[in-house]
Amino acid sequence: MSGFFKSSVGRKVSMALSAFFLMIFLLQHLTINTMSVISADLFNEVSHFMGTNPLVQFVLQPILIFGVVFHFVMGFILELQNKRARKVSYAKNNGAANSSWMSRNMIWSGVAILAFIVLHFIDFWFPEINTKFIQGDWSGLHDGKFRYFHELQLKFVNPARVAAYCVAFVFLGLHLAHGFTSAFQSVGAASLRKKLNKVGLAYAILVPLGFIIVALFHHLSYNH
Ligand code: HEM
Repeated sequence: MSGFFKSSVGRKVSMALSAFFLMIFLLQHLTINTMSVISADLFNEVSHFMGTNPLVQFVLQPILIFGVVFHFVMGFILELQNKRARKVSYAKNNGAANSSWMSRNMIWSGVAILAFIVLHFIDFWFPEINTKFIQGDWSGLHDGKFRYFHELQLKFVNPARVAAYCVAFVFLGLHLAHGFTSAFQSVGAASLRKKLNKVGLAYAILVPLGFIIVALFHHLSYNH
């Protein structure tokens, strides 16, 4: 098993598998966030269900956190490995001539997303862990009402945070524009290349755009 992760192919395949998992998570995350634009009550209900369901909290959430960490660590290892390979066979890889700007900069778009995740966890995830696991409050209530929607809106009052989030979502789009098709190629779906390019581009534009709309909606609609 450890041999699999040490081989170049093994690393690429495991990178692709964790990418699939994270891309499914992104769709689920966007779906729930979109509910906050449609109806505060719906968003509150779904957030409470997800936030208190034992399967989500004690099984899916740890798997997700592992998936995020795994993808970042493996991404850095692959980048180092590719750098070493580039030094050996430079003639094979001469930048723009045989690879796209996005594919050569996956590590930088990845670092931007990592920075976003740190900020995002400070904003949402750590307070949530604190309320539930440290203070032991699983009620989801504040002053007798569900707290999720109001907490979400408060986060998007500060324009600097909204701007930082939107810049990060653009980097997410750049990362996905190459990552989507690349992940399918790593698991041997190269024959579908043309179709995958189209679906991948649609995913890479629509998903980050959806997050941008959610962030801007809450910034603009909040009544002080
Ligand atoms: C406007 C956009 C977004 C909003 C409003 C938002 C909102 C939230 C909220 C409220 C939580 C806390 C959930 C909980 O633990 O109870 C959360 C967690 C999380 N978010 Fe986001 N998010 C956004 C964009 C993103 C993006 C683009 C990513 C990934 C690149 C992301 C990754 C995560 C992760 C990994 C968690 C922790 C896992 C979890 O417990 O759900 N989020 N987000």
